[in-house]
Amino acid sequence: QLMNQIETGLDRGLIPASIYGDPQVYQTELRNIFGRCWVFLAHESEIAANGDYVVRRIGEDNFIVVRDEQGSINVLFDACRHRGVQVCRADSGNTSHFRCPYHGWTYNTTGELVGAPLWRNAFGGMSKEENGLVKAAKVDSHHGLIFATLDPSAPSLRDYLGGMGWYLDLVFGLDEGGVEVIGAPQRFVVDANWKSGADNFCGDDYHLGTLHRSVWEIGAFPVPFRENMMGYHIQASPGHSLSFSMAPDADEPGPKFFGFPEDVAERFTSGNRISPEQLEIARRSRVFVGNVFPNFSILALPMTEDGAKHAPTGVLTVRTWQPKGPGQIEIFNWFLAYKSMSPEQKDRAYRAGLGTFSVGGSFEMDDTEPWITVGRTGRSVAAELLDFELNYQMGMPGIGIAKPVDDWPGPGITYWTRYEEGVQRNMYRFYAQMMRAPKGEWPKLTFSGQ
Ligand code: FES
Ligand code: FE
Repeated sequence: QLMNQIETGLDRGLIPASIYGDPQVYQTELRNIFGRCWVFLAHESEIAANGDYVVRRIGEDNFIVVRDEQGSINVLFDACRHRGVQVCRADSGNTSHFRCPYHGWTYNTTGELVGAPLWRNAFGGMSKEENGLVKAAKVDSHHGLIFATLDPSAPSLRDYLGGMGWYLDLVFGLDEGGVEVIGAPQRFVVDANWKSGADNFCGDDYHLGTLHRSVWEIGAFPVPFRENMMGYHIQASPGHSLSFSMAPDADEPGPKFFGFPEDVAERFTSGNRISPEQLEIARRSRVFVGNVFPNFSILALPMTEDGAKHAPTGVLTVRTWQPKGPGQIEIFNWFLAYKSMSPEQKDRAYRAGLGTFSVGGSFEMDDTEPWITVGRTGRSVAAELLDFELNYQMGMPGIGIAKPVDDWPGPGITYWTRYEEGVQRNMYRFYAQMMRAPKGEWPKLTFSGQ
């Protein structure tokens, strides 16, 4: 019923606030959204050597993401097949085997059961093949970004990303050598709902002028607020949205290629990886921000931790908004760099990122505070009794200045100027479809409107 209300409300640009707090909605999200969609887990550079592993989550459940002896990546449900005990007790490492702490069932890096103490006495005659760790239904990667889904009926990762793949290419495929992580992800817990992060990274550029006003005062970001509102909002494919900050005139001075250093940008070329159109969009872009539904967000922009000391430089961060109940998330925050960047350039980008988009960063601390109160509103009795709805009307016909763009070279539905919230409506429309989709049936991956 709430989902019906979302779909009809969206046509008027309204969303019931209780989806941000209702425990039943949250349980359905774990099954229908996190249990079915492609979820981001790790970057391949985090598990570069055979035997390297990290433990990550799909919804609230732990999965071991491990590179086996053959170099293939396996995503294994971290639950012993004997009694369901959590097998892997470290966050990351390198190993040839995982041994359950309870009775000692031992699995290799492909998840196969290889033995147990006193095997012949205890289990002689039992099949090892049938008792390996359970795997995610599908695993795939795009530019080294590893995703998995628990739903065997899910479309391929490529089809799931749809038009969003084109935009991911444009960021992650710019440099021949690709990208790699700089260190382990930061992790921190915030009392907010996961949708607040996803919603914000679909392209909530409008909050910068108010919430992040102070970051201009310390010179952390080089583009003035009003100028930064110029650019494109794109519903890349159902559920996935993004936003580019771009000057109206192609040759206007100012940061290009998300602020990456000039000698790095000189190596960015089109070719078999990306088209001339993609390269030109990246060249003109000051900021890329986007969200792959449900909870994987990407941000590339020129940043500095302190404008008085350092000029802004390109920062590339990806993050997941890991649900931990309806009112809590754990944020996983990775900094990435193009592999060909020098150690000094990577270090500069890392420091600039740490000072802005990190647990102690100027931007991040601003963002998380209001999200906490969105969750509080969503859980409130008043919101339920008063049918409190959230407003997503910016840029709808007759509202504001945003206009659809007809001659955009990339996929999706595109608007010029970022005074627009269709990017978020696109996320919630797909959200409502997934929440209502019967098991085994995947909603048609098409747009339903503006
Ligand atoms: Fe893992 Fe018994 S529960 S070995
Ligand atoms: Fe923000």
